[in-house]
Amino acid sequence: MDPAIRRYEKNDGVAVLELSQKYTSWDSTPTEADIQGFYSSEPDFFLVAELNRRIVGFIFGRESKNVPDEVLRRWRSAKVGSVEILAVEERYRRRGIATLLLNRLFIGFRERRIDTVTLSVPADERGAKELYDKLGFETRGYFMKKRL
Ligand SMILES: CC(C)(COP(=O)(O)OP(=O)(O)OC[C@H]1O[C@@H](n2cnc3c(N)ncnc32)[C@H](O)[C@@H]1OP(=O)(O)O)[C@@H](O)C(=O)NCCC(=O)NCCS
Repeated sequence: MDPAIRRYEKNDGVAVLELSQKYTSWDSTPTEADIQGFYSSEPDFFLVAELNRRIVGFIFGRESKNVPDEVLRRWRSAKVGSVEILAVEERYRRRGIATLLLNRLFIGFRERRIDTVTLSVPADERGAKELYDKLGFETRGYFMKKRL
């Protein structure tokens, strides 16, 4: 059975926070305030996947407001958006749920004339890299750090 993809509602907060804390910590874990901030800043781009009345995944994206004109010209892009956070409950993975969430987000992006999407992937999230490769994302660099 396919999950329903719908906009985030305030009642989803606890489930989304739990998924964030379990699966999306890179350098920092989203807090309840962050999640409220997602909702108040871009409610159209905050989506959940619901299966049997359970939230099994979510995605949040946003329009990138400060992209320099030169970059837009080079990318032949009218507007850029980003995928900020995406997670699917472990036991529901490899059923296409992230793909459904991303595709629905991209429909919303196109409706707002966003034609280019960027995102970052933690190096140890190999599954996520595979997912984005499969969806046609191009790797444009590596984010690196070293202690001095
Ligand atoms: C990455 C993540 C969102 C994928 O969710 P998902 O619902 O399992 O993804 P999908 O089922 O839509 O996967 C689509 C395709 O992506 C690739 N893929 C996804 N997860 C993969 C994995 N662990 N290993 C290899 N390929 C993978 C496969 O090609 C897959 O197609 P297939 O199952 O037919 O082979 C999920 O694993 C997750 O929440 N990971 C932890 C958090 C995270 O990494 N978030 C993204 C950070 S940017």
